[in-house]
Amino acid sequence: MRNIVLIGFMGSGKSTVGRRLARSLGWTLVDSDDYIVEHEGCAITDIFRDKGEAYFRNLETTCLKEILAKYPEKLILACGGGVPIAEENRKLLRKIGTVFYLRAKPGTLENRLKGDTSRPLLAGGDLRNRIDTLLKQRGKIYLDAADIIIDTDDKQLGDVINEITKKGRQPM
Ligand code: S3P
Repeated sequence: MRNIVLIGFMGSGKSTVGRRLARSLGWTLVDSDDYIVEHEGCAITDIFRDKGEAYFRNLETTCLKEILAKYPEKLILACGGGVPIAEENRKLLRKIGTVFYLRAKPGTLENRLKGDTSRPLLAGGDLRNRIDTLLKQRGKIYLDAADIIIDTDDKQLGDVINEITKKGRQPM
């Protein structure tokens, strides 16, 4: 089975699914946000505040290139929600592995993201509005980036894991 790449909106469960998959397959989990935090030595919110979003987006591309070089196999990559926006990144993701889009409805995302203060793009204003606006911009991008779509609403974590491992094993 090829490496597994998880993409999707903030709150779609990439990190949780990634952790569980890594445990059940015995593979390495890399979270692109954690990778960047380590690289920069500061939190995502600080990077956005001090250096801006464009700087952060460049870091995402740099980190994907490093990950592609470092992990030829047995990798689960959980991507920050904005990673697939850049076309260059979408190409890199496809090289890294099979890309799974963890899709969730706006209402599900809203419930999961309520009270969150770690995501600069959701700070201030009405949460549901922010989700709707960003999803409108990104919905097609996620579909374009994905090899396989996994609908996660109303599914147990174990079912999502089984679906990914089953579909990841099928020849494409
Ligand atoms: C972002 C998603 C976040 C993080 C940053 C920007 C986005 O990651 O990379 O706050 O643009 O959607 P998660 O999807 O893991 O929350």
